[in-house]
Amino acid sequence: MPTTSYWAVPLSDIAIDEEVEQAVAEVVRSGWWSMGPRVQEFETEFGRMCGAKAAFAVSNGTTALHLALLAVGCSAGDEVIVPSLNFVAAANTIVHVGATPVFCDIQGTHDLNLDVSSVEAAITPATRAIVVLHYGGHPCAMDEIVELAAQHGIAVIEDAAHAPGARWRGGMCGTLGDVGCFSFFSNKNLPVGEGGMVVTDSEALADRIRLLRSHGMTKLTWDRHRGHAHSYDVLVPGFNYRLDEIRAAIGLVQLRRLEEQNAARARLVAQYRAALDGVAGIEMPFRGNGESQSAHHLAVIVLPEESRRVEFQSRLAEAGIQTSVHYPPIHSFSAYRTITHRPLPVTDMVAPRLVTLPLYPHMGDDQVAAVVRAVVLAAS
Ligand SMILES: Cc1ncc(COP(=O)(O)O)c(C=O)c1O
Repeated sequence: MPTTSYWAVPLSDIAIDEEVEQAVAEVVRSGWWSMGPRVQEFETEFGRMCGAKAAFAVSNGTTALHLALLAVGCSAGDEVIVPSLNFVAAANTIVHVGATPVFCDIQGTHDLNLDVSSVEAAITPATRAIVVLHYGGHPCAMDEIVELAAQHGIAVIEDAAHAPGARWRGGMCGTLGDVGCFSFFSNKNLPVGEGGMVVTDSEALADRIRLLRSHGMTKLTWDRHRGHAHSYDVLVPGFNYRLDEIRAAIGLVQLRRLEEQNAARARLVAQYRAALDGVAGIEMPFRGNGESQSAHHLAVIVLPEESRRVEFQSRLAEAGIQTSVHYPPIHSFSAYRTITHRPLPVTDMVAPRLVTLPLYPHMGDDQVAAVVRAVVLAAS
């Protein structure tokens, strides 16, 4: 059952069914709602899906990024390279650890992922990490990024909020750098409401993330509840970034559906692409290169140059179709405008032309057709 919406075709939607309701009801009846056995099971299963040695469930994707930055040692005086065409969470967390975000450019209208040569040009002796974004679930060229980072002794954090289940040359997104961060916000491929996951293969990073997630404490309430511990020490001043059992139970249900739902997204995007790419001057980025398997989080189009995006979106809204923009570049926001940045000509050229169309796994063919009709009409 889809949720009810003001829109004839909403931007995203979550399917609600008995399995989800049942999973929640079981936790509620169990009497243990904070981090416990379901969180552990969710971590184990998510780690298995990615092939990561360690997975830590956290309260959201932003706290996942915060922990990742702290774990790789980012602090005051460091620079962290990040694409400006991005959700603001990565930049905010970079600022929160005391570091400076250094914005890099993207490739072009055909590929909205970061441009490796722009990353290279942004590296200075102060660079501590790169936070790559797999935009819309489309994997970045991770081999080149990892090689560049290794040459300069820089950590690679993957913001894989859009990319659970995506692969680059067979490797799972989130496990290709040092730390991978996922979001389970309601509109994501694995929707839980609020939630996230941090994955890593490094034991040292895992130890730090485990501690920082829960106040730096050596034992958890769940350990004490089971009689496995009576006291604890605090090794570092950490945070409460834990996930609870109710969300973990929903996450376990959603995780079992992830592959099928990503495949449904891929089918819908193929329909959009067949109907819209090259029509009325519209371009649909990420045609595919045979090296990656996308998680198809977003269906994004690039409008022709000189288009009036606000009018275009209004015309779709009049037809009951919700659209969005992923993203207003971070360097254009008031909070970031004062940070000196290198020129970002491609981001500046592409960003005003981006429009995100509705996409969710249970979207009907008739809904795709309605969006296509409205887009072609509005663009002509
Ligand atoms: C690319 C990206 N990174 C990070 C986040 C932050 O995730 P959350 O909303 O779970 O904190 C989001 C969520 O919208 C996102 O899209």
